[in-house]
Amino acid sequence: MNSERIVVSATHPDPVAIAHAAAIIRRGGVVAMPTETVYGLAGDARNPQAVQAIFTAKGRPANDPLIVHIADYAQLVGVVGQLPTTFALLSEAFWPGPLTMLVPKHPDLDPAITAGRESVAVRMPRHAVALALIRASDCPLVAPSANLFSRPSPTNADHVLNDLAGRIDAVLDAGSTSIGVESTIIDLTCTPPRILRQGGVPAEQLATVLGDVTVHTAVVGDSDAAPAPGMLLKHYSPRAPVTIFRGTTPTIQTHIVTMSQQNPTLAWLCYDDDVAVATQAQIPYATLGARDNGAMVATRLFAAIRELDALAVTQIVTSEPLGGGVAAAVRDRVFRAAEGRVVTLSLV
Ligand code: TXA
Ligand code: MG
Repeated sequence: MNSERIVVSATHPDPVAIAHAAAIIRRGGVVAMPTETVYGLAGDARNPQAVQAIFTAKGRPANDPLIVHIADYAQLVGVVGQLPTTFALLSEAFWPGPLTMLVPKHPDLDPAITAGRESVAVRMPRHAVALALIRASDCPLVAPSANLFSRPSPTNADHVLNDLAGRIDAVLDAGSTSIGVESTIIDLTCTPPRILRQGGVPAEQLATVLGDVTVHTAVVGDSDAAPAPGMLLKHYSPRAPVTIFRGTTPTIQTHIVTMSQQNPTLAWLCYDDDVAVATQAQIPYATLGARDNGAMVATRLFAAIRELDALAVTQIVTSEPLGGGVAAAVRDRVFRAAEGRVVTLSLV
């Protein structure tokens, strides 16, 4: 299959280009679309063949359910069952936007979408291209991140094509996404609501609306038992093993330079303040921006992991971004990428 690249404006997409992509969706094809978080691989939620085609294109296991994307509330009919009161509060505050809510599913919804579970994940994205495609397709769109299974989520169309060229019908290319990490997923079927995946809407913002909210932290193990199966520790890992160092910036820098003398195929997922040190020590690196600018670090994270993956490195070392907001979602991704390997460097 030839995967077409359809270039569109991120803010004012050409209706002709959108109609072309929507026609592919309406005949059961799969199209990668930008959202404000990451690119998603979209198909018609009402067409079981399209749903299957998404699992096949990604090599995604059937036990990992898909998010249903809508452009207006009327599209929830036939998707969701009885909505909890928290749904109205949160959708009012955060939709359209990077918040996915887990709610009871409608009995008629294709069971493959929820992997046989009783709740469905729904989201109204904030990206003009995603909204235009959903409207022109005139159906809810299921869309997992548009990467091959177990690769980092794509934040531009090149990432999508590197993973999925020949496996999908088209990608709507609107440049890089603005948030860079996936949506926050909150389970509204329990009390208090529980955050299953940290993401574009920070936990502290959800708490201002909900009062009480818990955060489910990283687990390893059997995916059927996980509350959100795609959130297994291994999920964000680049090919080379990752180790996180905690400590002050100078302590971490000194330690990494020493390590690189023993291992010349080590690479550094670093911050702007580390670049001079990495260059001086001839350590291959990719920078995430300023360590205290969580929003910028989030936009760089998955691209930087892909850059390091493309080098023949045997080990990746890094440290976590500082501060609140979306930085918490980045720390969560980095922790998962490192499969929990954290070394605390004490001051001597
Ligand atoms: O930002 C995002 O959420 C992006 C864009 C494209 O919208 N989508 C995305 O989808 O990240 P995906 O499939 O890569 O991640 C969705 C996560 C998976 O970990 C999946 O297991 C979980 O949501 N999930 C989806 N439906 C679920 C359900 N019914 N119950 C529990 N977990 C669910
Ligand atoms: Mg994903």
